[in-house]
Amino acid sequence: MAKPSAPRPPATPDLKTAHDLEPVLPMTAEVCDGHLCIGGVDTVTLAREAGTAVYVMDEATIRHQLREYVKWTTYHWEHVAVVYAGKAFMSLAMVKMVAEEGCCLDVSSGGELAFARRAGFPMERIYVHGNNKTPAELAECLEAGVGRIVVDSFEEMERLSAMAAERGVSQRVLLRITPGVEADTHDFIITGAEDSKFGFGLNQGLAMQAVERAIALPGLDFDGLHMHIGSQIFALHSFAKAIEVIVEFIAEIKGRTGVEVRMLDTGGGLGIAYGLPDEPSTIKDYGKVVVDGIKEECERHGLTVPAMAVEPGRSIVANAGVTLYTVGSVKEIPGIRTYVAVDGGMSDNIRTSLYDAHYEALIANKADQPREMVATVAGKHCESGDIVVNDAPLQHVDVGDILCVCATGAYCQSMSSNYNKQVRPGVALVNEGSWRWIVRRETYDDLMKCDVE
Ligand code: LLP
Repeated sequence: MAKPSAPRPPATPDLKTAHDLEPVLPMTAEVCDGHLCIGGVDTVTLAREAGTAVYVMDEATIRHQLREYVKWTTYHWEHVAVVYAGKAFMSLAMVKMVAEEGCCLDVSSGGELAFARRAGFPMERIYVHGNNKTPAELAECLEAGVGRIVVDSFEEMERLSAMAAERGVSQRVLLRITPGVEADTHDFIITGAEDSKFGFGLNQGLAMQAVERAIALPGLDFDGLHMHIGSQIFALHSFAKAIEVIVEFIAEIKGRTGVEVRMLDTGGGLGIAYGLPDEPSTIKDYGKVVVDGIKEECERHGLTVPAMAVEPGRSIVANAGVTLYTVGSVKEIPGIRTYVAVDGGMSDNIRTSLYDAHYEALIANKADQPREMVATVAGKHCESGDIVVNDAPLQHVDVGDILCVCATGAYCQSMSSNYNKQVRPGVALVNEGSWRWIVRRETYDDLMKCDVE
């Protein structure tokens, strides 16, 4: 995915140091005694203490991003909920931070809901997603008393209505609408386009049918609409266009049924900087385009401005995280390329092989030295496609160096696997000079815990 905003520059030694990599690193990143430090912790020492591979997440950056969203959305309209999309990265500690920052949480499976429940997250602040929630998952949602369920199909609507009515409750629901607006991003994750497995299409009249049905069915409290037009979006005008379309639909709903939409949830999708040429929009500008955009469109149609929700995932956690590896071999194929092999790979970061994603990398123990060579960072798995970074400018690499891949805080740990029976790395949270595990590294016993002999 991650169609970069700017073309990827040719891979040449770019002589950049950790100082130049600031746009892709956590906000607390600095160089101390030649080493990369994050959250006041020397990453080389951390790697030695924790072992590698290890994900490192910076608490200050995570909280800062959540606060930026709250600040720049509620700046324009007080009734905006910031709903963190747990699929980007979820752990009990992360869920607690989201709760402490006063934000809501998007869960998209029974498993994610279980994390929220275990962490004591306030259930009224939960938004439940997914295009095929199982009856068991719907029952779990009702039992937990979740705030909103985002209904994705007619079958799900009927099922939920029956289940809620049987329990004598009225479940607040949003309907997921596909506005038919394509976001400027990789095809695989365009979810707002008309040809989508998600939601009710606007242009075929399905969305209006869904609204009428939701209003009529027992056990459902029709609260409003949801859309999500894609991910890693740089062009804010895609959001503006989708808002124009969906507010017009809100006006049609009012005209036809007399019902006022109480909430409009515009999903997530704001892009982040993976590479140095990337220039994503700021949360401040995003807040203005989305929140002001909705207000203006509502005024144009003479509608009461609804409560709003935004659902950022990547832009909260991606740049808060890095992955540290130890270099095991440096293989120079004369005239072709140099492979630097690390003690992880596609099991902890599938995004390079899956989406041709690009990352910046550096040698953490040589952070103030210039990146004077280019090498491809390869994983340890039995697949030639197991690449972590293609053609990465790097400091001179030696075996035993600590290699840091930047901006791995989103969709890496959450999409990790045990391929080749690789144990998954733990997640170390750094803050104010110390670190702690928030997810410990797996053991071989963990790998076998579900096996039945
Ligand atoms: N809300 C809904 C309903 C979503 O489906 C998503 C992401 C989000 C919010 C959060 O979007 P974000 O702010 O993170 O862009 N695995 C892919 C990304 C898939 C995104 C799926 N939905 C990747 O690694 O790039």
